[in-house]
Amino acid sequence: MTQSVSSLSNTPATRRGFIQFLLGFSVISTVIGMLTPVIAYLLPKNANANAGVPVDVGKVETFQPNTGTIVSVNDKPVIVVQSKAGGLKAFSAICTHLGCVVSWDARKSSIQCPCHDGFFNPVTGAVMSGPPPKPLTQYEVVVKEGKVLIGKVLG
Ligand code: FES
Repeated sequence: MTQSVSSLSNTPATRRGFIQFLLGFSVISTVIGMLTPVIAYLLPKNANANAGVPVDVGKVETFQPNTGTIVSVNDKPVIVVQSKAGGLKAFSAICTHLGCVVSWDARKSSIQCPCHDGFFNPVTGAVMSGPPPKPLTQYEVVVKEGKVLIGKVLG
């Protein structure tokens, strides 16, 4: 008899404890759910871990005179230009206007953006005409043992 009374008196306490446990669990889950994306945003990314390390983009013979070839450097498009005036040059292939990928215009011997007819100088990456507000970002080009290596950003 004593035991049944004590078990009856424990029932509300157990229910209350369970509800408190659920509330505590949901508060902790909510705080973790809110903090996780904030912490992920603040932590440094590894995406540019290889930035600046020279990337082999092929043999020097593959880049013929008066051509511009799109290659991938650290998952970003880069145009490697072989021009008479400037030799081998490399620029970001992402247009500074609205981000289209540029291409080589052999007729005009220059880098062209097909989206809004922007043109860039193949030696400096400067804007020649069209709406792009800034020149293309230039990369260091090194020829080593017959291979073309794209290095760090020059400016
Ligand atoms: S996106 Fe290149 S000119 Fe507009």
